[in-house]
Amino acid sequence: MSYTRSSALFAQAEKVIPGGVNSPVRAFKAVGGTPIFIKEAKGAYLTDEDNNEYIDYINSWGPMILGHAYQPVVDAVVEKTKKGTSFGTPTEIETKIAALAVSMVPNIEMIRFVNSGTEACMSAVRLARGYTGKDKIIKFAGCYHGHSDSFLIQAGSGAVTFGAPNSPGVTQGTAKDTLLAVYNDIENVKQIIAANKGEIACVIIEPVAGNMGCIPPKNNFLQQLRELCTDNKILLIFDEVMTGFRLAKGGAQELFNIKADIVCFGKVIGGGLPVGAFAANKEIMSHLAPLGPVYQAGTLSGNPLAMAAGLAMLQELNKDTAIYNRLAEKTEYLHHGIADALNENNITHTINSVGSMISVHFTADEVLNFETSAKGNNDTFKKFFHGMLNQGVYIAPSAFETWFITDALSYADLDKTIRAVHTVAKTL
Ligand SMILES: Cc1ncc(COP(=O)(O)O)c(C=O)c1O
Repeated sequence: MSYTRSSALFAQAEKVIPGGVNSPVRAFKAVGGTPIFIKEAKGAYLTDEDNNEYIDYINSWGPMILGHAYQPVVDAVVEKTKKGTSFGTPTEIETKIAALAVSMVPNIEMIRFVNSGTEACMSAVRLARGYTGKDKIIKFAGCYHGHSDSFLIQAGSGAVTFGAPNSPGVTQGTAKDTLLAVYNDIENVKQIIAANKGEIACVIIEPVAGNMGCIPPKNNFLQQLRELCTDNKILLIFDEVMTGFRLAKGGAQELFNIKADIVCFGKVIGGGLPVGAFAANKEIMSHLAPLGPVYQAGTLSGNPLAMAAGLAMLQELNKDTAIYNRLAEKTEYLHHGIADALNENNITHTINSVGSMISVHFTADEVLNFETSAKGNNDTFKKFFHGMLNQGVYIAPSAFETWFITDALSYADLDKTIRAVHTVAKTL
């Protein structure tokens, strides 16, 4: 494949955009090489600036659950655009999507829209602190909740009480209020709570982790976390930015039958436009401005184009719940196909998948938290990534990312992907 035009565009971008990208992982730093510039996409396929075509497993990092340029979403945005793109006043469509989201997701009564998953998680934590009057939060090593300061805290060695910032610019003052726990380790969470009695406002978790590969909760971990939070008057925040409207209509809460106190959304809820949201019962949400004292706002929050895209997306998902079974079946098919291809070539690996999320780890060990995920062989992953790209299959350029399965993928596409794995596995 030739990447001449992509390389030229990247060189131009580097002159005026730091690292040539507007979000770091796009820069291919984890896998080497230069990023590919995409000019258009339709269904399951991306086309780059050199006219190479790829089966897409990034899917804009999650939103495109029905595939690219999905017609009802495109039509909704085009129609709305003709009527003006932003007013900064209430609009009817905001209530429509809010009512629909509330009807699809268990255990929420009110929802506030923002512009990104980062904003949703940041605001949810502020609300939890304002509601409980407590300062500290627990997050899990390897979970990503966006780039706001409280979340950019590095994994320590197991049960650490005080986090250390992993980005310059995050102050020690902020870091000390973020306590790090080990995913899938309830004893560790118990210890942290015991050591910080009465000081913890909330536990925030990806109910299926998707930012250290795909890691499902094991052995009733979420159920035990729920009980622990209730017993200690700590709010449980499900960061469903990735899992919301993806694992089920009602997200992970529905899939695992567990109630969170606050739920964060992003990605799918915006249908590919910049939308985030956070939601809870009326009692908690009434602490939010203008009803209550916890301040939160946004010039473009509830933007009509973004709401139109999100509403069209949620309407499609709401009408056809069979989609979630189809997605899970496709994921299973791919899981087995990839496993067979790697096994035939004696490539050590572990594959995790839940619903329409899947990740391939080049390690023999079970991958159940950040530490075990980090054991994956990155040199093998790099070769795998570039090999797959050359075969016309675009997976995320980092071993710590989840692949997303979309309804637009046909079984022929999945077979093509599996054939590509057979070819690439021979080179690993
Ligand atoms: C689970 C989770 N939470 C929050 C975020 C942040 O969302 P955004 O990138 O829209 O700010 C992400 C982004 O990948 C995510 O995966």
